[in-house]
Amino acid sequence: LVPPGLKNEPIKSFGKESTVDWDLLRESIIKLTDNGPLEIPVIVGDSEIYAASSNRLVYNQHNPGNHAQILANVTQANAEDVRVAVEASSAAKEAWLNTPFVDRAAVFLKAADLISTKYRYTMLAATMLGQGKNVYQAEIDCIAELVDFFRFNVKYAQELYSQQPIESTPGVWNRAEYRPLEGFVYAVTPFNFTAIAANLVGAPALMGNTVVWKPSSYATLSNYILFRILQEAGLPSGVINFVPGEPNMVTDELINDPRFASLHYTGSTAVFLNLYAKITANLTSGKYRDFPRIIGETGGKNFHVVHESAAVENAALNTLRGAFEYQGQKCSATSRVYVSESVWPKFSQILLENVSKLIPTNTSAVKGLQSFIGPVIHENSFDKLADVIDQAQTDPELEILYGGQYDKKQGYFVQPTVVRTSNLEHDFLKREFFGPVLTVHVFKDAEYESILESIDSNTNYALTGSIFANSRTAIRLAEEKLRYSAGNFYINDKSTGAVVGQQWFGGARMSGTNDKAGGSNILTRFTSIRNVKENF
Ligand code: ALA
Repeated sequence: LVPPGLKNEPIKSFGKESTVDWDLLRESIIKLTDNGPLEIPVIVGDSEIYAASSNRLVYNQHNPGNHAQILANVTQANAEDVRVAVEASSAAKEAWLNTPFVDRAAVFLKAADLISTKYRYTMLAATMLGQGKNVYQAEIDCIAELVDFFRFNVKYAQELYSQQPIESTPGVWNRAEYRPLEGFVYAVTPFNFTAIAANLVGAPALMGNTVVWKPSSYATLSNYILFRILQEAGLPSGVINFVPGEPNMVTDELINDPRFASLHYTGSTAVFLNLYAKITANLTSGKYRDFPRIIGETGGKNFHVVHESAAVENAALNTLRGAFEYQGQKCSATSRVYVSESVWPKFSQILLENVSKLIPTNTSAVKGLQSFIGPVIHENSFDKLADVIDQAQTDPELEILYGGQYDKKQGYFVQPTVVRTSNLEHDFLKREFFGPVLTVHVFKDAEYESILESIDSNTNYALTGSIFANSRTAIRLAEEKLRYSAGNFYINDKSTGAVVGQQWFGGARMSGTNDKAGGSNILTRFTSIRNVKENF
């Protein structure tokens, strides 16, 4: 099925070597915006419900880099539509699970090919416009990572289905049957990666499940285009149902249905805790026949530690990238860095010199396509970050080393900001901000071990983190002391940028259920094995 030697999708990146077709990119951006906002329907089974003809509410998706520009008018599902989505997913279930794996796989392999070729620039344009990415951040997301998820999931599923670890004896044939879950999967997808949305719906569907998908209201444009590409690739109706809508209502309708089988979620820890509690309450009151599979990837307070033996330039430049690429809005973004005082002068010089070159820009405007830093996603996020920066201006325990400006007149622009604190217990070293604010703590070389202990204990997040060091002893100590502090642990690399198939992604503690997107483990979560014994 998947050719041996499957490779990660190459990225057409920045700079002189870039093979981006700039004309086509500009044309694609214009094409998506020239005719005014795109009308996006609810899609349940065979029905496409548009607000104009159906008396539904609408939400608008704006361009965060130019918020006067409305990109899409999105029809919101009402409660009845959500119930119809469940019926459609139930109706499609039997045929889909009986569809041979090669045919299910072909849908995702074909969609991957369509995205890497025919729709590459449409996907880039939609992700750049709607989610405030520059072309490089869009490439690594809605092209490379997305395509990799679809292809590698097929590879991993194929390996899983071919495993028959159960022993048989003469006269008795035992076999493992990898059934999809009974019921439907509810996928709640985030704004920050189109690829994550693709995987949250694609992984369960590949394994023979049917899905009800609530896209983020800040990423509906790219997610809708993805849905249309999946249809073009042969996705039967009802297998994935596209249900933009008011989150609490959609959730309550879905999880109160006895056929609810699994939550596949990426987003904030707070929302995940809330969903978890609601599902658990339903479970204990006897609403379900099954224990739902609750799979979530949530927040982080991701760290870099720079040991005195580190290659300082590498540490500083990777910190710059980890903290400020995509405006610090990756769940994996570096948001605290602990630097040994003997390397701090050089580290800070490189970091501050480079951060001062980053000017927030509308990354979907002709001049901004390659700008390193764009807008944050919406006004609420902007306002929260403005409060964080205001606190940094006035708190005597905080010193702003660079940044501190913000401006939402045209787009939601927050200047990349570096804040220093000497208080190891400061809440800036504990609280997730989800934006371009990096907190620094400088430690005495002799304190290295106690710093590691502090990193481990001062938050309950455990998503990603990095140690920069050349000393093997220092690396070993960090690996031991930070054993449970990060699900993705990097040595001499930034805390962001996991590659499908190479770094399986996810964290434990309050960062999620650690089921590892981009690996084989997640796929088993969407199966429920039946052991069949047949006597001859
Ligand atoms: N998987 C993304 C990263 O590693 C979030 O940066």
